[in-house]
Amino acid sequence: MATIAPSILAADFSRLGEEVDSAVAAGVETLHLDIMDGHFVSNISFGADIAKTIIKRAKPLPLDAHLMVTMPEHYIESFAKAGAELFTFHLEIDARRQALPGGRWVYGATELRYVSRINHIIDKIHSAGMKAGLALNPPTDPKLAAPFLDKVDRLLLMSVNPGFGGQSFIEETFSKLERTAKYRKKKNLNFDIQIDGGVGIDNIRKLAALGADNLVCGTSFFGASDYSVRLKELKEALAVSAR
Ligand code: DX5
Ligand code: ZN
Repeated sequence: MATIAPSILAADFSRLGEEVDSAVAAGVETLHLDIMDGHFVSNISFGADIAKTIIKRAKPLPLDAHLMVTMPEHYIESFAKAGAELFTFHLEIDARRQALPGGRWVYGATELRYVSRINHIIDKIHSAGMKAGLALNPPTDPKLAAPFLDKVDRLLLMSVNPGFGGQSFIEETFSKLERTAKYRKKKNLNFDIQIDGGVGIDNIRKLAALGADNLVCGTSFFGASDYSVRLKELKEALAVSAR
């Protein structure tokens, strides 16, 4: 069955430790850490020092770090030291910035310009003892990830333009996911597929049925008044899709 990954971004940061404890007590299998540098996305979240305290508190759960940063190379060592299980970075680190409403932006790749840089980062993540994830923003065609899919442990399909929690799910993600899962099967590849942004009770069943293995739930998890009840509801929806 697919895994639910609550995103700490939607937790109450003024009570971070208690929020981690409550999620762990509710029975989560993992937590998702959103790292933003204010350049790759139009927001700043937190870095390796805070991630380390969260990872320590959630031990022994394996946590994944989603780096929405322009220079992932700079953070591989500190996240490995912090104890992250998986380090995900974006394919669009050398792409062009597109303007979004409200002064925001998103990077979308239309071509692969720096294949060797991406391969190097994947190798560096593995050498540091972490699993490697490659993330794609909504404007990027998943085809561009093909050269790396035999090397990565995870492909993350963003289902919102990254930077903020609580946004609406982009429907086009369903067809992208379906195509990606079919490609994985055809080529007999082993990476898992994570979906991130606007995921909740309404769409989780369909996402799992189409081949998603890991579902990031920010607002839909930490926005609930009772995390145990919400986790049960999310898992029940997944169980239906697995039948
Ligand atoms: C967005 C982040 C997501 C976000 C998901 O930039 O990568 O992980 O926290 O939050 P929700 O589930 O609220 O869309
Ligand atoms: Zn994320």
